[in-house]
Amino acid sequence: TGPETVTPTGAPTGAPKQAKGQQGEYLTTSAGARLYDTDHSLKAGERGPTLLQDHHLREKVMHFDHERIPERVVHARGYGAHGVFVGYGSAANVCKAAFLGDGVETPVFVRFSTVLGSRGSADTVRDTRGFATKFYTQEGNFDLVGNNIPVFFIQDGIKFPDVIHAGKPHPDREIPQAQSAHDTFWDFVSTHTEATHHVMWNMSDRGIPRSYRTMEGFGVHTFRLVNEAGETALAKFHWKPKLGVHSLVWEEAQMISGLDPDFHRRDLADAIESGAYPQWELGVQVLPDTPRQTFEGIDLLDPTKIVPEELAPVQPIGMLTLNRNPMNYFAETEQVAFHLGNLVPGIDVTDDPLFQARLFSYLDTQLTRLAGPNFNQIPINRPHAPVNDMFRDGFHQHAVHAGVAPYKPNTLDGGNPFEARPEDRPFVEVAQPLAKSVKVRQSPTSFSDHYTQPRLFWQSLSPVEKEHVVRAFTFELGKCYEQAVKERQLMVLANVDPVLCKEVAQGLGLPAPSATGRPRRVVPSPALSQVGQTWPTD
Ligand code: HEM
Repeated sequence: TGPETVTPTGAPTGAPKQAKGQQGEYLTTSAGARLYDTDHSLKAGERGPTLLQDHHLREKVMHFDHERIPERVVHARGYGAHGVFVGYGSAANVCKAAFLGDGVETPVFVRFSTVLGSRGSADTVRDTRGFATKFYTQEGNFDLVGNNIPVFFIQDGIKFPDVIHAGKPHPDREIPQAQSAHDTFWDFVSTHTEATHHVMWNMSDRGIPRSYRTMEGFGVHTFRLVNEAGETALAKFHWKPKLGVHSLVWEEAQMISGLDPDFHRRDLADAIESGAYPQWELGVQVLPDTPRQTFEGIDLLDPTKIVPEELAPVQPIGMLTLNRNPMNYFAETEQVAFHLGNLVPGIDVTDDPLFQARLFSYLDTQLTRLAGPNFNQIPINRPHAPVNDMFRDGFHQHAVHAGVAPYKPNTLDGGNPFEARPEDRPFVEVAQPLAKSVKVRQSPTSFSDHYTQPRLFWQSLSPVEKEHVVRAFTFELGKCYEQAVKERQLMVLANVDPVLCKEVAQGLGLPAPSATGRPRRVVPSPALSQVGQTWPTD
């Protein structure tokens, strides 16, 4: 690797902060030839012109020209840290994953993010926050790709491009950078009332965390756990910060955005550097894996619903400690590739339609973002378990595979040393009694209650928290130009709570509508699907 220091992932914690890349005794080209001068191009005479034969000039500028890669299509702004996860062993009765075993230490990399702003946006905007954890377990990588809000805007991943298009800056002016304060976002959420629960959390203090260190995290979806006996349970993952949950008030967030747009990343990096290592306890709500996959009337496949902790307490199963800052932002935080399909034996997917779409989306986007199919060979993504995937070639292939027979079974390369064992099967084949043999393009009726849980959330807030929610709705809706959008969102709020609706309406100077109780959702139109594609003429 020449005179540069390349640090593999999983370097021992406390790796020297000063380990620098460019500290060799002399500079070289990327091909290792010693350089005499990197400050002057080669010219035909003192005042030029510059000669094309100056390979170093061309290589140096060429490499610089290609330093940028596409930012993530969502969650572009993020900040990461290394750490360790220690299992308590308390999950053994429901989950056989080895990294949850008593005292088992697993290296991790965590990336926190905002969802909608671009890479250069401010930290303290009102938005959902990503909380993605890569566990480098001995059984392969397990990625828990969650958020700081326990529910999501939509119930089906096919709507993800739509909700993100509505929330991202308008295509004409690219304003605004942050969520809300624009017509498309409120247009979308007021016409898709399944978003109401998530929006209530966004408009509450949860939408502007004080610090990443004081944020909860949620796996959001219901997962399926499997124990050694092959018994299954359904589960929801929770991260509980040791420092408690704290938020900024809006005025603080506004001022901080201006004074220090890097507030959250600075806070995390400084805390780790000073030895104040942030910690989160991982917990699970364990729910019976019944044929209907519901619990107390809640459809567990609906990602817009929580299971109240009073009904299913969160049971602690391990502790996460972040104790090492990345050495290089690009190499680690930018190139890390999380994927929900990175599962280990004992943790499995469910039929939640949002979950299912995500299983496609992450691999697919990383194919472009990280330029080719070999991104798991990038140091930050490399598993700490042996890899024998029989994948070959492709852009950015770094492995030099030995042998002639990348298939199995074979009789030329000595068969395959990694014989499959039934217990390693990543996906349990649990019978799905609800699955029918007909094809359906619609939401189940059990997904159609859009207001009970947002109301529960509102009712759980203290008076001052309620006041913050009212102010947030009033401020954000006040930024809409379209009167109809404001009025439609007020109708949504009327279905959540009359006081909430009345106070926001007052702030907007509009009449408060009455509750209808009706959800608004996309109704499939069979006629549409039969119409051929037409292209706009201009
Ligand atoms: C990125 C969470 C829904 C597509 C992310 C990240 C998080 C996250 C935390 C950032 C990962 C990182 O730090 O690198 C969630 C949660 C969801 C959800 C909790 C709902 C429960 C979806 C859906 C889709 C999707 C439904 C698509 C159908 C993406 C894509 C990225 C991303 C394309 C960028 C990944 C990359 O470039 O590496 N999501 N997401 N997400 N998410 Fe989601």
